[in-house]
Amino acid sequence: MPETPVIAIDGPTASGKGTIAQRVASTLGWHYLDSGSLYRIVALRALRTGTDLGDGGALAALADGLAPRFESGRILVDDEDLSDAIRTEEAGNAASRAAAQPLLRAALLGLQRRARRAPGLVADGRDMGTVVFPDAVLKVYLTASVESRAQRRHKQLIEKGFSAIISDLLRDLAERDARDMQRAEAPLEPAKGALVLDSTRLTIDETVAAVLEAYRRRVAA
Ligand code: CDP
Repeated sequence: MPETPVIAIDGPTASGKGTIAQRVASTLGWHYLDSGSLYRIVALRALRTGTDLGDGGALAALADGLAPRFESGRILVDDEDLSDAIRTEEAGNAASRAAAQPLLRAALLGLQRRARRAPGLVADGRDMGTVVFPDAVLKVYLTASVESRAQRRHKQLIEKGFSAIISDLLRDLAERDARDMQRAEAPLEPAKGALVLDSTRLTIDETVAAVLEAYRRRVAA
């Protein structure tokens, strides 16, 4: 029996992966995996417990038995709603540091792969197409200029009621890009055969349409 199909959407921070992946998933009636939220949950646990973000073994222990529930757009862990707490820039920056640890990446692999359920999965992150789902039917590398990503992140944070300054965001984004792209383990890079999509001048609808069109072409081929 063929494996449940996966569409992998990877790319740098604030490139719009989450929005696009969720829209593609709901159009197709598929499941959605926000892999970054797992790194954010572990990072938040580390911040709360004073765990060293460079200690892979300790971070892997924090990921042990993690069973987040994704319900109506909220993320619950052990019945605590962490949806807002994991979206702060502090949690995002800590997640990017923790994510460089191979032991943590290995600890989160099974949880991510178990999200592959019929009829299909749209997964977003950094290594969905390169490491977690190398047999994905479609791999997309979604990018956008650093300025437009800083503006999008700014809008997103303000809408959630957080304060944010564009110049700080620009610096953080550039740092996070560098860290994600330069790490030894699962660095951020387009997977082999990935559709590279620059969304700087595309609307959300246009970007979603481009992904769906690429998927239909793949399936027809
Ligand atoms: O919102 P943003 O795109 O910045 O981040 P995210 O997707 O929520 O992920 C937070 C951090 O986790 C990223 O900066 C990555 O360093 C890391 N991450 C990763 O290494 N691998 C993934 N599959 C997903 C996220």
